[in-house]
Amino acid sequence: MPSPREASASLQKKMDEVVTAVNKKITKLLPETDLHEDRLFEAMRYSALSGGKRLRPFLVVHSANLFNVDPRRSLRVAAAVEFVHCYSLIHDDLPAMDDSPTRRGKPAAHKAFDEATAILAGDALLALAFEILADPDTHEDPRVRIELVKQLAHAAGPDGLCGGQMLDLIGEHEEFDVGTISRMQRMKTGKLMAFACEAGAILGKSDEPHKKALCNFAHDLGLAFQVTDDVLDLDADPEETGKPANQDAAAGKSTFVTTMGKDAAQMRAEMLVGQAKRHLKVFGNRGETLSELAEYVLHRRA
Ligand code: IPE
Ligand code: IPE
Ligand code: MG
Ligand code: MG
Ligand code: MG
Repeated sequence: MPSPREASASLQKKMDEVVTAVNKKITKLLPETDLHEDRLFEAMRYSALSGGKRLRPFLVVHSANLFNVDPRRSLRVAAAVEFVHCYSLIHDDLPAMDDSPTRRGKPAAHKAFDEATAILAGDALLALAFEILADPDTHEDPRVRIELVKQLAHAAGPDGLCGGQMLDLIGEHEEFDVGTISRMQRMKTGKLMAFACEAGAILGKSDEPHKKALCNFAHDLGLAFQVTDDVLDLDADPEETGKPANQDAAAGKSTFVTTMGKDAAQMRAEMLVGQAKRHLKVFGNRGETLSELAEYVLHRRA
């Protein structure tokens, strides 16, 4: 029986496989150049190939597997989602936002390069993500490509990640109630995770009930994920997370942990993961991998 803090051997193997495959895909999508502006590509590669758990790519690949999607397609979408995530981390660490010096155990992009280069690398990764989705190599059916572009834009924009990040910054100066914190976390983290799962259903031309089940799963998982991130901010080892500890309270942020305390926050994450897993019932045994991932999110240390 694996320790509850670790992924089971079979889940770990699947996670490692996704890391290897998505890193290969990202390396191909971000080739080295000898262009005059190579500094930009270098900063993009630095941020996109510097580790990370690759959970969003995992969600894309394993949601797509439920519909027998060709991995060559799902890996392109996985890379696109990871580019949006990496852009969000680069910008999140900037002095104007969380002012965080380290990420994934290395200097944050604005420290390794400079602020302007970090901003541009983030912008470029975001734009490139949409270029990848719009390319016929991602899917030959233009309706599928348009749906992917539309849903990623929705997840990344004012009703999703950007809106959530705005609330996060407002929450440094205002005390939020639990409902507002939930809404903020769903927007800043949940929406992109939900897209990662929905993308598998879009690529697989799933029927509505199965797509809806996956989206519901991912929304609950995304919120649970941010709650556990907030718990880890309080008590994880920076050696394991690769980022500084205790940043949220120091910045006066409104999180579940700062509002209701660590134990209540962890209990909420447990409740959400239970709820997330129940949405997978429609997939029977085939939902097992995503279900195991949800359990891992709850007990992760990084
Ligand atoms: C960190 O995300 C930022 C949040 C949305 C909480 P991850 O914990 O997935 O970061 P990486 O990709 O593994 O570095
Ligand atoms: C980051 O949330 C969410 C996004 C980047 C969209 P956090 O600010 O809590 O993430 P970490 O803790 O810096 O990874
Ligand atoms: Mg932040
Ligand atoms: Mg941060
Ligand atoms: Mg955090």
